Amino acid sequence: MVRSPLTTRDTRQVTSSRDAASPAHAAPVAPAWFERRRAQVDAALAADLKIRESGTTSHSRLLEAVEYSVSSGGKRLRPVLVLECCVAAGGDDAAGLPAALAIEYVHTFSLIHDDLPAMDDDDLRRGRPTNHKVYGEAVAILAGDWLLARAFERLGDAPPRCAAVLSECLANDTLAMIEGQAADIAGESTPPNAELVRFVHEHKTARLIRAACRMGAIAAGASPLIEAALSEYGLSLGRAFQIADDLLDVLGSAAATGKSVGKDAARNKQTYPAVFGIDASRAQLMHCIDAAKQALGPLGPLGGRSANLSELAGLMAFRDR
Ligand code: IPE
Ligand code: IPE
Ligand code: MG
Ligand code: MG
Ligand code: MG
Repeated sequence: MVRSPLTTRDTRQVTSSRDAASPAHAAPVAPAWFERRRAQVDAALAADLKIRESGTTSHSRLLEAVEYSVSSGGKRLRPVLVLECCVAAGGDDAAGLPAALAIEYVHTFSLIHDDLPAMDDDDLRRGRPTNHKVYGEAVAILAGDWLLARAFERLGDAPPRCAAVLSECLANDTLAMIEGQAADIAGESTPPNAELVRFVHEHKTARLIRAACRMGAIAAGASPLIEAALSEYGLSLGRAFQIADDLLDVLGSAAATGKSVGKDAARNKQTYPAVFGIDASRAQLMHCIDAAKQALGPLGPLGGRSANLSELAGLMAFRDR
């Protein structure tokens, strides 16, 4: 079976009833362009993490922990978005590479900390034991800290004309992500609440995905109109992404997602299925996908330079991981 970043051929569409799954619902294979971008990102991450060999055991264990999480095969959605948005906005993807690395580092930091016992207390991530299960909590916390600093260090490699703006953008949406994570944890002790779950989703997930798209536009030197369009696209895509993540926790499998399922209900999380139910969550997922596609209007006719981004939005309905 061909496995792809967001879909598999036999995936049951997360917007369709499981019983209604049929060949008519089969998802397309991962687009070749996404695989190429993912390989480009993986190569750049590997090159960047051939970091100084430290002589001391304690340091090398920290760097081993960093590499363990970064190299463990994430979908690379955010860095791929940076590069695709940069190209869609008329830029050269080389200009987007520092921001692509930076956002994957911030994202990986957020995952390592998200899995800690004090937060979601998860044992499985990207199909492997979580960082703290292998390296212990102290090293896992520090690996996350290291990645956050490394992200902003990498932005120093961005073209000088835009490095400061990229930093401000990433800092702003990283702050939002951390605030969203705080609201997610606090929300475990309150009843399901529509306003709260929207806040949590927008902050913990959608804002960083928006930052990916916006940084691509900034790296390209895009006009304010194109930057705003790609930001809007990213926010809607990010909302869709987190609704699909919530649905996969109910409907998906650990084998496909690489993480334990059924944990959200067990921890009384504020999720779309908990607040709205499965069917309404699917409807809202489709609504966010449509909004993301609509936002691309200023980039010109679909089938043009935003075709890949539009295709990616549609694939949110077919995720199995
Ligand atoms: C997981 O993100 C955390 C959420 C925001 C839902 P991803 O599903 O993109 O995780 P990786 O990078 O593919 O492991
Ligand atoms: C985590 O959301 C979002 C961030 C890490 C910022 P979740 O807790 O739902 O992500 P998973 O399901 O563990 O990947
Ligand atoms: Mg969480
Ligand atoms: Mg989690
Ligand atoms: Mg989740």
